[in-house]
Amino acid sequence: MAEGTRPLLAANWKMNPVTAAEAADLVRGVTEAARQHQDRVEVALFPPFPWLLGVAELLEETGVGLGAQDCYWEEKGAFTGAVSAQMLAGWCQWVIVGHSERRAYFHESDEDVARKAAAGVAAGLDVIVCVGELDEHYERGHTEPVVTAQVKAALAHLSADDSSHLVIAYEPVWAIGTGKNAEPEHAYNTMRTIRRVVADTLGDGAARRIRVLYGGSVNAANVESYTALPTCDGCLGGGASLKADEFSKMVGTVAEVYGHTPASP
Ligand code: PGA
Repeated sequence: MAEGTRPLLAANWKMNPVTAAEAADLVRGVTEAARQHQDRVEVALFPPFPWLLGVAELLEETGVGLGAQDCYWEEKGAFTGAVSAQMLAGWCQWVIVGHSERRAYFHESDEDVARKAAAGVAAGLDVIVCVGELDEHYERGHTEPVVTAQVKAALAHLSADDSSHLVIAYEPVWAIGTGKNAEPEHAYNTMRTIRRVVADTLGDGAARRIRVLYGGSVNAANVESYTALPTCDGCLGGGASLKADEFSKMVGTVAEVYGHTPASP
């Protein structure tokens, strides 16, 4: 566990739900569990842009964090459709950058991800940078070099001082939305690699402060197997975070795990 932090359970809603009313229902469905366990678990919700303001109001005084799923690196100007980190900073504490769906469907490069991460931190946001190997990398045993290169690239414009505002989410692309979650041992080894790369790049202090999450088909049944790992500071959930009951259970499980001393897998 990173220095002085609680485990983080982050809910990436992706392009869901379609209406503001459904978004409000989902928020109301998860805030009770989050409030109950807030001493042990930090919860953050990542709705689509149009729901951010409404969700921000519902989350007031709940202790639940709010974040956006992406940002652009320029502050303002002629960038149709883009949303800057500065614009988000008035409403959100968090932003996700480099999610595999952004990389795959919107052709974002490692350099784009690095610029977004730096813009997020500069705007005062806490930034979750997603990294992870494709199926073909995993099958060939190339996870380590792929993830190492992604982490190094993402940190290119950041310094050790930024590390307490930085979270790296290890999300094997083959595990996202597929129900094929990674073996805890594979997740453990890759998260350990990530922390080592941070140490090599930004120094040991940064490696102790930065938080590392696992994501990819996390649900109420398997969240314990990741959060119990000593390299793991929490999870980033997608599909399961759209079901209020399931996500609430996940919050309770992470709170319980945090009460115990982590063991090696
Ligand atoms: P999933 O998504 O939990 O639906 O696999 C995780 C993510 O994309 O962050």
